[in-house]
Amino acid sequence: MLTIAVSKGRIYEEALPFLEEAGITPTDDPEKSRKLILSTTRDDVQLVIIRATDVPTFVEYGAADMGIAGKDILLEHGAESLYEPLDLGIAKCRLMTAAHKDAPVPKSRLRVATKYVKIAQRYYANLGIQAEIIKLYGSMELAPLVGLADCIVDLVDTGNTLRANNLEPRELIMNISSRLVVNKAAMKMKNQAIAALLEQFELTLAKR
Ligand code: ATP
Ligand code: PRP
Repeated sequence: MLTIAVSKGRIYEEALPFLEEAGITPTDDPEKSRKLILSTTRDDVQLVIIRATDVPTFVEYGAADMGIAGKDILLEHGAESLYEPLDLGIAKCRLMTAAHKDAPVPKSRLRVATKYVKIAQRYYANLGIQAEIIKLYGSMELAPLVGLADCIVDLVDTGNTLRANNLEPRELIMNISSRLVVNKAAMKMKNQAIAALLEQFELTLAKR
């Protein structure tokens, strides 16, 4: 049995065509079902439905053989313990700094709100900027509006969320897309099944 970890929402929706082309159609819709383990039209494949941030953990510990996760999540988790064989090119966005429109951001002793604490620490350290990182779990955009932080580090796609909150994107930290990750032991023990699936995903990608 191959177990694949995916999160509900955009990653599931955008990963579904890859799965379906490999003959993997879940027997329940994760958006409607409360089930956390979904069987599929392939007897040898099941999906586990978890939070996006938990995907690297499940795969690292071998609770899932493979998973699909954003590069942002992988970088923040520290994914050296996983194989990352394929960029699926889905759930594309940018990891950026953002601040209040027209407001100057201090050059030192910066306060930054983000859920990406490690990435932000590394980013500002590389620039030689002293930054206090404040960990939040969501609604980062609120932080500069209420004086919690000078700026944020968050994902930007259309920019609508920033605009709606009078913020503007500042520096690009990196372009993000979702990656296929594989548990290292599973890559050896279940090599044939995983290699076949990888090949199928690559074919789907090549057709795009
Ligand atoms: P969690 O539930 O663990 O807090 P989340 O709510 O951030 O995670 P999603 O919003 O589904 O989960 O995001 C999953 C991934 O999709 C992110 O890690 C990122 O790689 C990508 N992503 C997030 N927001 C966008 C966006 N607006 N446009 C495109 N891709 C995005
Ligand atoms: C993501 C991200 C930003 C927003 C950016 O949030 O955290 O807030 O998308 O997209 P935009 O530039 O197109 O507005 P999401 O929609 O996933 O909501 P959530 O973080 O609350 O899950």
